[in-house]
Amino acid sequence: QTVDPFDLVIFGGTGDLALRKLLPALFHRYLDGQIPAGSRIVGVAREPLDDAGYRAQLRESLVDKGADAAKLDTFLQQVFYRPLDARKDEGWDAFAAMIGEQPKHIRVFYLSTSPELFEDICRRLGQCNLNGERSRVVLEKPIGRDLASANRINDAVGKVFAESQTYRIDHYLGKETVQNLLALRFGNALFEPLWNASHIDHVQITVAETLGLGRRAGYYDRAGALRDMVQNHLLQLLCMVAMEPPASLSPDAVRDEKLKVLRSLKRIDNGNAAQLTVRGQYRAGVAEGQSVPGYQDELEGSKSDTETFVALKAEIENWRWAGVPFYLRTGKRLPERVSEIVVAFKPVPHSIFGTSAGPLAQNRLVLRLQPDEGVKLWLTIKDPGPGGLRLRHVPLDMSFAEAFGVAQPDAYERLLLDVVRGNPTLFMRRDEVEAAWRWADPILAAWAESGEAPRPYAAGTWGPSAAVALIERDGRTWLEDS
Ligand code: BG6
Repeated sequence: QTVDPFDLVIFGGTGDLALRKLLPALFHRYLDGQIPAGSRIVGVAREPLDDAGYRAQLRESLVDKGADAAKLDTFLQQVFYRPLDARKDEGWDAFAAMIGEQPKHIRVFYLSTSPELFEDICRRLGQCNLNGERSRVVLEKPIGRDLASANRINDAVGKVFAESQTYRIDHYLGKETVQNLLALRFGNALFEPLWNASHIDHVQITVAETLGLGRRAGYYDRAGALRDMVQNHLLQLLCMVAMEPPASLSPDAVRDEKLKVLRSLKRIDNGNAAQLTVRGQYRAGVAEGQSVPGYQDELEGSKSDTETFVALKAEIENWRWAGVPFYLRTGKRLPERVSEIVVAFKPVPHSIFGTSAGPLAQNRLVLRLQPDEGVKLWLTIKDPGPGGLRLRHVPLDMSFAEAFGVAQPDAYERLLLDVVRGNPTLFMRRDEVEAAWRWADPILAAWAESGEAPRPYAAGTWGPSAAVALIERDGRTWLEDS
């Protein structure tokens, strides 16, 4: 499905996200013929660059990622740069005139900057009359650092752009397997009857990264894993697993159902945070075969109590999920990069197999987001061959790469074009962001009040031992190789 020529402006155009994710995603869409001639991609940042300087910078970072140099050069002809400071007047008129040269284009303003700048940028865009009905604004997460700051930002953006023009991006929703969850749950008769507290024992959601801080110390140290990953990505995954069947795939139908889940999350606060949450921070260790420094060493020695790991037990207080724990964990510098949702079903009510047949394991449905996207359904079968009836646990295994043979597009590729097309289904509505903060705020407050430092873990391990204790207390274990 092609789109008409459009303008996409990236504020924070020289930043980590723009260089690592957004521009590569746009280049891939270009290679697929999805960026029509005449479209313009405009990087905006404070650095005093010109088009040629910006293109050279992009060229280098994309060639490093293996891009075909000739194709890249034609793509870069559609890329421009404007130096702008949201807090200074200079340059905004010329910028508005440039955008105004194409009055028929859809205009996407992607705010890939610190959220503190969202208000200023939106105000400027409004003053330049760039907020008309053809304009859309994309807000990168996290929106604020708590409910109050999120409200301030959303109010300020809302003065300039209507909610229908506002796209709050959570790139996890653009991942193929996450969308596939909708297809699996609501396109098959098999799962839905079992998708509840009567049949599901618990759910685990893991988003593990091997990376450390990288270039992002300034942002990350002020955020930490709960704000950076849990409040948005992990909660959105939880919503996709737990929501009721939406009436349709229309944006509000899906988002209404997610909102209900967020509002049903059991409150975690001072009274129970010590039992239900664990925060950690990595120390020096070995990651992917290399010695790596600890978090505070990367901060050049400054002391920090920011968590780089969180494990917690969430619960959804509604009829479908009463009593079913959702164990969430995420961290930097863990042993492998893996994002996975595991739905563990209850055991059979009675075993007819003797002890010699071996233990009966739980059925599990595993949705692997990355790497090697795929779906596995673990079943108990008879171990083939003579020698009596012995049981084995094996997966029905569907790897996307093997089944379909094509590389999966990056989440940003899909989401960026969804904005251009005007489809907000996979973006967060304001009330969702608020509900997620309403749940996260008391956890942050409880941690602050406890005054406890995050627990240390060696880089290259699965987080502090307290994270293991968190789930083992309930007689369960983290399923690492599912
Ligand atoms: C971002 C976080 O939203 O997601 C990063 O800010 C994190 O800290 C990244 O590394 C992970 O995304 P992905 O797609 O690589 O799993």
